[in-house]
Parts: sequence; C-alpha cells; structure tokens
Amino acid sequence: MKQLKLPVLLSFYALFAFSCAPKPTLDVPEPFKNGQQVFHKVCSNCHGPDAMGKHTQAPGLIDEEYLAENFSDTDILEIVLNGSDKMPSQKKNVTSEEITEIIKYLRYSQKAAGLEPEEDEEENGTKPSPKMN
Ligand code: HEC
Repeated sequence: MKQLKLPVLLSFYALFAFSCAPKPTLDVPEPFKNGQQVFHKVCSNCHGPDAMGKHTQAPGLIDEEYLAENFSDTDILEIVLNGSDKMPSQKKNVTSEEITEIIKYLRYSQKAAGLEPEEDEEENGTKPSPKMN
C-alpha cells in the first residue's frame, strides 16, 4: 500500500497545477490539437482562451470579422510575423509550421462556433420587400 501513495499525491498536485491556468475549453479533433496548444501557449495571454477575447486587451478572433473571407490566412500570417501598432510581432515565439497549425485551429474554431460570412442579402432573397402603404 505504501508505494501507492506517492503517485496518487503527485497526480493531485498535477491536477491542481493545471487547473490554475485558464485552459482552452473547446474540445477539438486530433488534427487541430497542436494548433490549439500553440495558440494557448503563445497567443491566449492576449487573445483569451479559445481566442474568444473576452476581457482581454486583444480582439477575439472567433468573430465574423476574422473569417477567411474577411481576414485571409495570409493576413493572419503577416500579423503574427510583423505585428501591428498594438500587437508585438510573434516571430520569435512561433515557427512558420506552428503558425499554419494555429490558422488551421482558428478556422476550425470559427466553424465550430457556427460563424458564417455575411451573405449578400439580395442574393438569397431574405431582404424584406418594402411595404406598400
Ligand atoms: C502581447 C499581446 C498579444 C499576443 C501575444 C498576440 N496578440 Fe494578436 N493582437 C494583439 C492586439 C493588441 C491586437 C489588436 C491589434 C490592432 O488593433 O492593431 C491583436 C490583433 C490580432 C489579429 C487581428 C489583426 C487585425 O488587423 O484585426 C490577429 C489575427 C491576431 N492578433 C493573431 C494573433 C496570433 C495568432 C497570436 C499568437 C501567435 C497573437 N495574435 C498573439 C495582441 C497580441
């Protein structure tokens, strides 16, 4: 019985340590896990867990504004490498493979959140016709 105690104790410590940091909450499929991890390590301090940007200095990226139609993969790559007025370059923190993984993960999360590009209203006929009165 005695040998059992240490591993049990250790696993409690591990649980405790992990539960202190805000963790990503979205359960992503295997191919996106790597990107999620890198995002969590490098970007989530500013962009929030799951890139939701709540109560953070940086915008949430799970938003229509950042769908591929409005903000392309190349745009993301460029801001990560070059930064902007407000965002410091992350060139030193990620490899280009990791950026690709992050982008894959972000695109997955946007889809999982049910975001869709705003459609041209006239095209799908949802525009209410003006009332005649
Ligand atoms: C030190 C804080 C910080 C870190 C770390 C950070 N960002 Fe940002 N990010 C910002 C801020 C602040 C903005 C808003 C910039 C602006 O309005 O010019 C931003 C904006 C962005 C934008 C939108 C740019 C736009 O023009 O709307 C993207 C995409 C982005 N970040 C991706 C990332 C990714 C991916 C990472 C991780 C590799 C990351 N950021 C890490 C602070 C950060």
